[in-house]
Amino acid sequence: MKETKRPYVILSAAMTIDGKIATISGDPELSDEKDWREVHKLRSQVDAIMVGKGTILKDNPKLHIKYFKHKGYYRIIIDSNLSIPIDSNVIIYQPELYPTIICTTKNVPMKKIKEYESKKVKILQYGDGKQVDLTKMVLDLSTMGINSMLLEGGGNLNWSFIKHDLIDEMRLAIAPWIVGGKDAITLVEGVGFEKMKQGRKFKLLKVYKRDNYIVLKYRREESL
Ligand SMILES: NC(=O)c1ccc[n+]([C@@H]2O[C@H](COP(=O)([O-])OP(=O)(O)OC[C@H]3O[C@@H](n4cnc5c(N)ncnc54)[C@H](OP(=O)(O)O)[C@@H]3O)[C@@H](O)[C@H]2O)c1
Repeated sequence: MKETKRPYVILSAAMTIDGKIATISGDPELSDEKDWREVHKLRSQVDAIMVGKGTILKDNPKLHIKYFKHKGYYRIIIDSNLSIPIDSNVIIYQPELYPTIICTTKNVPMKKIKEYESKKVKILQYGDGKQVDLTKMVLDLSTMGINSMLLEGGGNLNWSFIKHDLIDEMRLAIAPWIVGGKDAITLVEGVGFEKMKQGRKFKLLKVYKRDNYIVLKYRREESL
């Protein structure tokens, strides 16, 4: 029988004092080495790491672990039209340790799917709308044994997770810069809620200061 539970989702991000997760030109270099170590430690504790297509196009991350021994995990990319470059780092870098799944829509032609599958990428299709149906997706991922997941942005994917109430915990590092720019990407983008009470509320669990950084840990109120 199909399980109805979904993975436990932890949103992890580094942002500036003014809430940006990259500069206006897309420079994402916010974390220092100690912050990366903490993020890599978190990565070593989950079954999957997820990012949106925008993050792949702008940063081309490997989504690997540099500092710890670990058993590997899935890298999951959200890409409605299956359009990330076939030579992206998430596809070519260590696929045996970090198998890559691209979640897309049913609008993608089979020929394109086969092209990515030939690079050992697993393609999953959720919904036939403009964007990936995340609610269907999370339920399905849990049937694949993905019980915990780190959501590593960017701002637009974070919004969809917030809107659909899919975030259980957050780990936010506040880096000591202000960069401004009304079009610089923020922690959560999207259309936003009109009223404060429609917003998703989180409980502050932990705050700590390290060097010039602050790390905040939150859990959604209903999970407590
Ligand atoms: N500081 C940090 O911690 C951090 C972490 C991650 C990223 N970043 C920064 O964030 C920026 C990228 O953020 P972004 O907002 O442009 O891109 P993103 O959130 O990584 O990806 C958004 C894209 O995902 C696709 N998508 C498919 N289904 C979706 C759905 N249901 N909901 C939302 N998105 C869906 C959409 O493109 P299609 O519809 O075309 O597929 C959408 O444009 C980069 O500059 C990166 O450096 C910073």
